[in-house]
Amino acid sequence: MTDTSLFLAAANGHNTERAPIWIMRQAGRYLPEYRAIKAKHSFWEMARTPELACEITLQPLRRFGLDAAILFQDIMTPLPPMGVKIEFAPGPVFAEPVRSARAIDALRVPGKDEIAPFVAEAIKLIREACPVPLIGFGGAPLTLATYMIEGGSSKDFEAFRGFLRQEPEAAHRLLDKLTEVSIRYLTMQVEAGAQAIQLFDSWAGLHDARSYRAFAKPYNRRIFEALAPYRIPRLYLAVDALHLYGEIKELPCEVVSVDWRAPLSQVRPLLGGKTLQGNLDPAVLLAPKGVIAQEAERVLREGLGGPHIFNLGHGIMRQTDPDSVAQLVELVRRYDRVKVREASAS
Ligand code: CP3
Repeated sequence: MTDTSLFLAAANGHNTERAPIWIMRQAGRYLPEYRAIKAKHSFWEMARTPELACEITLQPLRRFGLDAAILFQDIMTPLPPMGVKIEFAPGPVFAEPVRSARAIDALRVPGKDEIAPFVAEAIKLIREACPVPLIGFGGAPLTLATYMIEGGSSKDFEAFRGFLRQEPEAAHRLLDKLTEVSIRYLTMQVEAGAQAIQLFDSWAGLHDARSYRAFAKPYNRRIFEALAPYRIPRLYLAVDALHLYGEIKELPCEVVSVDWRAPLSQVRPLLGGKTLQGNLDPAVLLAPKGVIAQEAERVLREGLGGPHIFNLGHGIMRQTDPDSVAQLVELVRRYDRVKVREASAS
């Protein structure tokens, strides 16, 4: 198998000889070359200028032998065309949180080509220059709704959780609109050349299984089903969601991204035959070399029971030394899963 197809093979359920590796938030503030561009442009300028978005996507690939690229955008990208104003400081800040049925009914559902034509252009530029598969992505409807209603990041998202309980019907209308926009936005990415799609449900873990079944699962399912005809691997991330894996197992996606809170060997039986992605604690990359090696090897060993894509359990921290990432990538690339399995069998 060539190195260029390794990520797609593992994502499609093959138990590959070595685990492909990419890093969540691999393009970003821990890289000096990203900060140099950031010093001259706002977040939206970077995201909406295809040449800059392409350049930033490729930056980590030049440094590290990563097995996949992820498009430089944000989960917020499809929201301004719906009629909401968002700035980054550095997290998303909404000019006006969406807190009423009227505000929800006023949201537009833009056409496929209106949402983000700059993303289609960026994807085409990246595909011309990129040696490894390109992952497109979007936010899951419930996670997008979390930010829209809260108005930005928060510790407990109290406004959002209150709204779900007080106005469930309006919440469903919002989730329905976000689902439709996400389907248009993500199918556009695949048609432009994205070779896999990851759906980020960063805040799914806030909810119990009943709420997840009501407010998350049917919408995520609709998005994954809309992507099915394209036959690209579909990846799903939910953070702090061990209690939801019984539901997540039933989603039509090929890969589940697992955070660091439970070992892959414990999670695997809960998710049927899906490929597991993860799950090194991002804080490990702040540790000395010996600790990084020990912890990465533990994750690799726990991943041996089936298809595995190595990644962090959540986004890389901005204090991370890029040399530590280089060390991690080398270690994962050298780890021969077949040999280790044979040695432990004999
Ligand atoms: O390299 C990549 O991973 C691609 C780009 C990417 C960004 N955001 C760019 C970005 C991806 C995949 C995202 C996803 C994203 N954005 C998620 C889901 C993943 C997760 O972490 O749970 C969420 C919840 C957001 C919302 C968001 N955008 C937050 C909370 C923040 C600020 C804090 C942070 O983590 O940096 C952003 C801003 C943002 N998005 C930056 C980048 C590179 C930092 C902007 C800056 O340079 O100041």
